[in-house]
Amino acid sequence: MNSVSLVLLAAALANAAPATTDKQQTFADVSKIGTQEDIFPYLAGSAPHFSYPLSYGVSKEVPDQCVLQQVQLFARHGERYPTNNTGASLTTLYKKLNNYSSKFSGALEFLDDDYEFFLPDPSNFEELTTWNNILDPINPYVGEWDAQKHGREFFQQYGELLKNKTSFPIFTSNSKRVHDTAKFFGDALGDKFNISYQIIDEDPSMGANSLTTLNSCATYNKTAKADVYSKFTTKYLSDIANRLNTENKGLNLSKSEANSLFAWCAYEINVKGYSNMCDVFTDEELTYYAYNDDMTSYYYHGPGNPLGITVGGVNFNASVELLKQHKELDNKVWLSFTHDTNVVNILAAIGIFDPGHPMPAEYIAIKDHIYHKSWMVPQGARVYTQLYQCSNQTYVRYVVNDAVIPIEKCSSGPGLSCELSKFVDYAESRLNGTDYVSSCKTNTTSNQTSLTFYWDYQQKHYDAPLGLF
Ligand SMILES: *[C@@H]1O[C@H](CO)[C@@H](O)[C@H](O)[C@H]1NC(C)=O
Ligand SMILES: *[C@@H]1O[C@H](CO)[C@@H](O)[C@H](O)[C@H]1NC(C)=O
Ligand SMILES: *[C@@H]1O[C@H](CO)[C@@H](O)[C@H](O)[C@H]1NC(C)=O
Ligand SMILES: *[C@@H]1O[C@H](CO)[C@@H](O)[C@H](O)[C@H]1NC(C)=O
Ligand SMILES: *[C@@H]1O[C@H](CO)[C@@H](O)[C@H](O)[C@H]1NC(C)=O
Ligand SMILES: *[C@@H]1O[C@H](CO)[C@@H](O)[C@H](O)[C@H]1NC(C)=O
Ligand SMILES: *[C@@H]1O[C@H](CO)[C@@H](O)[C@H](O)[C@H]1NC(C)=O
Ligand SMILES: *[C@@H]1O[C@H](CO)[C@@H](O)[C@H](O)[C@H]1NC(C)=O
Ligand SMILES: *[C@@H]1O[C@H](CO)[C@@H](O)[C@H](O)[C@H]1NC(C)=O
Ligand SMILES: *[C@@H]1O[C@H](CO)[C@@H](O)[C@H](O)[C@H]1NC(C)=O
Ligand SMILES: *[C@@H]1O[C@H](CO)[C@@H](O)[C@H](O)[C@H]1NC(C)=O
Repeated sequence: MNSVSLVLLAAALANAAPATTDKQQTFADVSKIGTQEDIFPYLAGSAPHFSYPLSYGVSKEVPDQCVLQQVQLFARHGERYPTNNTGASLTTLYKKLNNYSSKFSGALEFLDDDYEFFLPDPSNFEELTTWNNILDPINPYVGEWDAQKHGREFFQQYGELLKNKTSFPIFTSNSKRVHDTAKFFGDALGDKFNISYQIIDEDPSMGANSLTTLNSCATYNKTAKADVYSKFTTKYLSDIANRLNTENKGLNLSKSEANSLFAWCAYEINVKGYSNMCDVFTDEELTYYAYNDDMTSYYYHGPGNPLGITVGGVNFNASVELLKQHKELDNKVWLSFTHDTNVVNILAAIGIFDPGHPMPAEYIAIKDHIYHKSWMVPQGARVYTQLYQCSNQTYVRYVVNDAVIPIEKCSSGPGLSCELSKFVDYAESRLNGTDYVSSCKTNTTSNQTSLTFYWDYQQKHYDAPLGLF
């Protein structure tokens, strides 16, 4: 939208003010909306969705000479409010800033300027952002709309696989925002399909039969590699705190509060369309923040965690089974919605972003930096597995947030794909040595030792109650 039409829109909205004044007393500054997209890749996957910033030059469309046979999706929920914990710490920080007795100077001056805090209502925490709960209706980054748009894009590219179908399943965890995303995605396909939503419980009692196999892994230790990742510098945080404390005498902002300002910036964009708080940071500080997030994710839930690949391997293995059974299975479209951490586990198993050696914490990896967490799992992340046939051969490849990401040593097929039997060997080598049930002591919480829901949903009908987690 150009700026002239935004101004007209603002004027029109001003006339319609009664509908919105209970939410926001002062209107968002429309001239700022859309100007901060360059920094989304630096905001730890908390800012709105964006496409993968690099490509190998290959289109995500199936190559002309090939015919699509099956598609799978692992998706993250859309743009959301902060979690309870982050929401509470941002609210505490806001109260501290609001309590500051002098006028602000420097980067925080905007707080004096009729600023309204973007988290007035804790009941929104953990929720997807929707037209009903956002602060300003001209915000273009609403989770609801992102999910609908994704549904339409999916249908445009893969709808041919649903041609003869009147019904098909969509699998989702029972987190409310994950389910809502799946539902908005499905609703956007129109009413010619009877979609059967399979709501899979996140509870550890589900064992291996879940989209959140992390939760059922009794031995998982997110901080197992703390001795490695905690070596990363925190100087960028002291720099921010010192700068703001110098500009504003007596503010006494701590390093951890400086760290919270990044989340403030990201979530305020989700809710309002932009955030003045983002202007607090220098480009370098954003780079340090982003690398710290990449590197800690690698050790928390990625290939750097002793059980990252094992936990994601359950879902990767099920995905490989679906590919192998593409001829027999009547359903050709396997859509699954879950959280970023679970998609990170799955990507760890798949290996397309595995650098193959530990990520350094002593410095920012420059030459060898394939693991960008926010590029992999921004809000609304979408990891597609495509299976297509070209003459007499079948091929597999991944499309992550619109970019084809080839498997390094298996990309000689059309569109940088990997021939299916070679892909199966590749997958076996990734999963070799992993044993979810014994490594995770899953038997302490569950007797479900394998993932069955893709195969038994019609008999079982999964219908777990939704919750805010
Ligand atoms: C606000 O300032 C008053 C007076 O300085 C202080 O007693 C109170 O604890 C402060 N509240 C917060 C939330 O910082
Ligand atoms: C749809 O049905 C037609 C005619 O029966 C068949 O040729 C085609 O392969 C089917 N398409 C899919 C995606 O199942
Ligand atoms: C939709 O599917 C469900 C379960 O698969 C079935 O019970 C229901 O009758 C179907 N509804 C329509 C209108 O086809
Ligand atoms: C996780 O690993 C860290 C580092 O080895 C260790 O200090 C911590 O006690 C472990 N936590 C659990 C619950 O085992
Ligand atoms: C600044 O905050 C620290 C704790 O965050 C506190 O110990 C210290 O007394 C505070 N200093 C001032 C001047 O308020
Ligand atoms: C992968 O799935 C197959 C079929 O369900 C199962 O036999 C095998 O044990 C699984 N392997 C892993 C590593 O999960
Ligand atoms: C597949 O086609 C190629 C040429 O297009 C041929 O050389 C090859 O023998 C065929 N393979 C099979 C298994 O039919
Ligand atoms: C699995 O690993 C073992 C031991 O490291 C090795 O001997 C075997 O060839 C591997 N199998 C596959 C399929 O990669
Ligand atoms: C789980 O399995 C382990 C070894 O396979 C066994 O030692 C343990 O007793 C089992 N625990 C339960 C609760 O079944
Ligand atoms: C498996 O565990 C569930 C509860 O976690 C229990 O209801 C069920 O009876 C168990 N099944 C078997 C075969 O032990
Ligand atoms: C977040 O807070 C809501 C409302 O208090 C509660 O229902 C939910 O369980 C909480 N979720 C988490 C993960 O703490």
